[in-house]
Amino acid sequence: MTQKLAARRLENQLAHSHLEREIGGFTLNLSAFNMPSERTIYHPNPSVFKNAHVNSFDQYVDLHRHSIDKPEEFWGEIVKQFYWETPINIDKFFTYNFDFRKGPIFTKWFDGATTNISYNLLDRNVRNGNGDKIAFYWEGNHPDDYSRLTYKKLLEEVCKFANVLKSKGVKKGDRVAVYMPMILESVVTLLACTRIGAIHSLVFAGFSADSFADRILHCGARVLVTADGVWRGEKHLALKSICDQSMEKCARKGHNVEHCIVVSHLGRVTAPPNAPQQHFVTPMKNGRDEWWQDLMEDASSLCYPEWMQAEDPLFMLYTSGSTGKPKGVLHTTGGYMVYAATTFKYVFDYKPNDVYFCTADVGWITGHTYLVYGPLANGATSVMFEGTPFYPENDRFWAVIEKYKVTQFYTAPTAIRALMKFDSDLVKRHDLSSLRVLGSVGEPINPEAWMWYYKVVGNEKCSIVDTFWQTETGGHVLTPLPGATPMKPGAASFPFFGVQAVLLDENGKEIEGEGEGYLVFNRPWPGLMRSLYNDHDRYEDTYFNKFPGYYCTGDGARRDASGYLWVTGRVDDMLNVSGHLMSTAEVESVLTEYPGVSEAAVVAKPHPVKGECLYCFVTLTENTSYNEKLLGDLKKLVRERIGPFAQPDVIQNAPQLPKTRSGKIMRRILRKIAVNDRDVGDITTLADTNVVEELFANRPIAA
Ligand code: WT7
Repeated sequence: MTQKLAARRLENQLAHSHLEREIGGFTLNLSAFNMPSERTIYHPNPSVFKNAHVNSFDQYVDLHRHSIDKPEEFWGEIVKQFYWETPINIDKFFTYNFDFRKGPIFTKWFDGATTNISYNLLDRNVRNGNGDKIAFYWEGNHPDDYSRLTYKKLLEEVCKFANVLKSKGVKKGDRVAVYMPMILESVVTLLACTRIGAIHSLVFAGFSADSFADRILHCGARVLVTADGVWRGEKHLALKSICDQSMEKCARKGHNVEHCIVVSHLGRVTAPPNAPQQHFVTPMKNGRDEWWQDLMEDASSLCYPEWMQAEDPLFMLYTSGSTGKPKGVLHTTGGYMVYAATTFKYVFDYKPNDVYFCTADVGWITGHTYLVYGPLANGATSVMFEGTPFYPENDRFWAVIEKYKVTQFYTAPTAIRALMKFDSDLVKRHDLSSLRVLGSVGEPINPEAWMWYYKVVGNEKCSIVDTFWQTETGGHVLTPLPGATPMKPGAASFPFFGVQAVLLDENGKEIEGEGEGYLVFNRPWPGLMRSLYNDHDRYEDTYFNKFPGYYCTGDGARRDASGYLWVTGRVDDMLNVSGHLMSTAEVESVLTEYPGVSEAAVVAKPHPVKGECLYCFVTLTENTSYNEKLLGDLKKLVRERIGPFAQPDVIQNAPQLPKTRSGKIMRRILRKIAVNDRDVGDITTLADTNVVEELFANRPIAA
């Protein structure tokens, strides 16, 4: 193991022991679960999975080998389920270059074929006799609010809204900015864009007005779709007002959003009982802002699909970059569709009568691939939930699972950790016997959370799929298959079909067998992103420059003696707060915007529920004092610039930062200070070693 990775590994272990200490505050008695070791294996329940798509590990191994040896054959069979207006040419099935020494980096699947994704998700299912099947059960924030949408009705709505977009001048290739909550109109908006070949750019409605404005400016959208507001638990979010601020900022920078379409949502839902009885007024700007409902009234429900090239852009979705500037990850039509559909089918072992429930917000890639595209491509019935797991009570997820007889449940470790704090009776009072598959995504799942999920939620009968993937990968890349893979708590296990995972050491040499290294991939699968919007150079730099010939995930992983892969976390300067990936640079640049801050360094500190939280070191200018007001100001600034989820937990005064003689900040040391671990290792390369002691002495009491 190389030094750098060994150091990271040690830090992760430390983080873990720290976590256990903090978890002591939970009411849960973990010792009752006999914590598993790496060798503990949980087998898929044979009676639950006897008819699984893949029901033995051998079968997985065979299929995987086939997908790697004969990708044309493997995917060639799968693509037949879809409608292609111009058929796929086997000679151009897929082409790629991952090695910059041989020319520009690119990946193409099914080049030259044409199709339309909304046609495949909607018309195809309606034609197959599933028009009356429920596509979505919508469950509102308040339990009294719910509705449902069939495939036929969804198709109709999508066509109508596609016509609305057309009437606003949206054409093939145009970007449409979307800032929406968990309502069915969000799905309609995305699919309406794909119907006419527009590229959707949905920004999670937890991002601040500033962040949203930057993203609109970057993609140059002239049409924006949003809702007046939404209730999340007892909190009211005024989405349209945030959009107004974003549009103003864009205008100041010379870019005009010409049309803003607003779903009138607040008026049709139940406000929380303790909510202030205020009437929410949504200001509408004449000539620019219009109500969704008004526009839909006269729209025609017929809209012929635009036949798109397989490699035409489908959507972009921003993700954090280690330089601090967000990256517009670009996915294309054919490959993404096929990969979303296939991973959904196998990883959740989807069957036609299932009811699937993904808790991820539509604003993240999980929402795109596994709330919208994957399930609809399979003609599945999903639950879309607007609220939070804690409202009106802390058993809301379990109540929803019981209500809709959910068979597959997909959520994040941070949610599991938050929920396992409560008495398990909150789970047990609900009938969850419909469940077969429990999914986890967003960050490594710690064995404690895994065991609780397995025993308390899954009643030791469900399989857990710990799915490792990224905005960039489009869909799952490492995951167990529920009927096939014996499970090890905390291991993302094995690559999905078509994916070949490789571990590299610091010198780019492949690690065979047991070992730990950089997690990379040596060939594309259909769902891999194709570029960063308007920035192909950065795409090549970020993902392909470090190790020629490989796509670099930015994560480290370990392969154990039986070949299981364990993702150990980021090896770059990214942090993962409640599954929200952000870069230290992004937060640092916001902190240094503040006039009194001359320098800032941010590191991740382990957190019992959020996984990681932000620990910030700030060097202040001479006449700035470190006090409550400053802390409040800085936290507010981060919330405003990035979003509430990025708010720092700790801000420490750092008269000096630990730097090497060449001026590089040694974050390794800052991470030690954040967890108050004096075992800082070698500090001889520091310009001034006294800094370390000073920083330990300066730790805020609450840290
Ligand atoms: C990063 C990608 C993929 C949808 C949500 C996040 C971390 C994600 C796992 C997992 C260990 C995981 C990685 C990855 N991550 N899932 N099952 N085990 N780590 O998408 O925002 O693009 O973040 O999340 O660090 O690189 P994203």
